[in-house]
Amino acid sequence: MMQAFVSPAFRRTVVGKSSSLLHRRSPTTVVRSFASIYHADMEDLSHEETSSPSSTSSPSSSCAHSLLILGKPGGGKGTISGKILSDFPQFRHVSTGDQLRQHVRNETKLGLEAKKYMDEGCLVPDNVMIKMVMKDAVEAIKNGQSLLLDGFPRTMEQAVALDEQLDVDMVINLCIPNETIIERISDRWIHPASGRVYNYSYKPPKVTGMDDETGEPLVQRDDDKPESVLKRLNKYEEATRPLVQYYEEKGVIQTFRGTQSDVIYPEVQEWLGEQLAEDDVEANTI
Ligand code: AP5
Ligand code: MG
Repeated sequence: MMQAFVSPAFRRTVVGKSSSLLHRRSPTTVVRSFASIYHADMEDLSHEETSSPSSTSSPSSSCAHSLLILGKPGGGKGTISGKILSDFPQFRHVSTGDQLRQHVRNETKLGLEAKKYMDEGCLVPDNVMIKMVMKDAVEAIKNGQSLLLDGFPRTMEQAVALDEQLDVDMVINLCIPNETIIERISDRWIHPASGRVYNYSYKPPKVTGMDDETGEPLVQRDDDKPESVLKRLNKYEEATRPLVQYYEEKGVIQTFRGTQSDVIYPEVQEWLGEQLAEDDVEANTI
């Protein structure tokens, strides 16, 4: 169902008690137990094909963090993640959508299986997603990196599985009206090999239809067809929206409302900077 958007152009809402830190777990306990993940059956997953580029630890943050970005399909998770990574390079970006598309392009067993769900606008089964994400999570944490999880968890089962391994200490919830999303998605083009995203009204390529860095052709995602987009929005309401309450109860979530990533991002940046600074002070006084 389409939602009417009645709020001002930009509004930020604090949800839960994230600013108090009272309910937040110590960043030093971000990693819980990895023994079980190491023994998970990963045979079908080719790490070289899916892993995000590594980034080095930033001297500005001495603690490993686990940050999630939640939001509707086409709600700007990838766009905001890109901005976070350029300001906070200590995070390693794990985008499940990008990883799955890489598997599809490489025609791996996982990719062939996942494509059936993705093209229909359905979620890929939880057991597949949990294994895929945990592999990257293990590597990042082993390297002392912080994680930025984009598109995971998306179901309660995934959230519980993640909680068994990591303490999620920050969650960004992007709240964008459906009308804006539908407009944006129809205008989105991607460079399949890198996952770079363009939008003809917001971030156009220098040359129409071509990737800025490689000059290769841009394509539209198969799941950006209108019927898939509506299914994805419905699936979000049914499977993913309950996670907002789940993380509210943990006191780690902050909601950002608006229609423009460029307006929303400065608020995200300020909030994230405050959270990281507070945790570093806490860690240094323990
Ligand atoms: P995924 O790739 O994660 O798709 P999604 O959640 O549907 O989100 P999108 O990537 O489409 O959008 P986004 O929020 O990143 O927004 P973006 O920044 O691109 O997943 C794809 C599929 O994989 C799923 O449907 C599912 O099948 C499967 N999957 C993935 N994870 C799974 C999981 N955990 N469990 C099960 N299945 C899973 O922005 C959108 C557009 O808006 C872009 O064109 C952008 O340029 C534009 N834009 C951004 N800001 C502005 C602005 N200010 N003005 C105008 N346009 C703007
Ligand atoms: Mg995305």
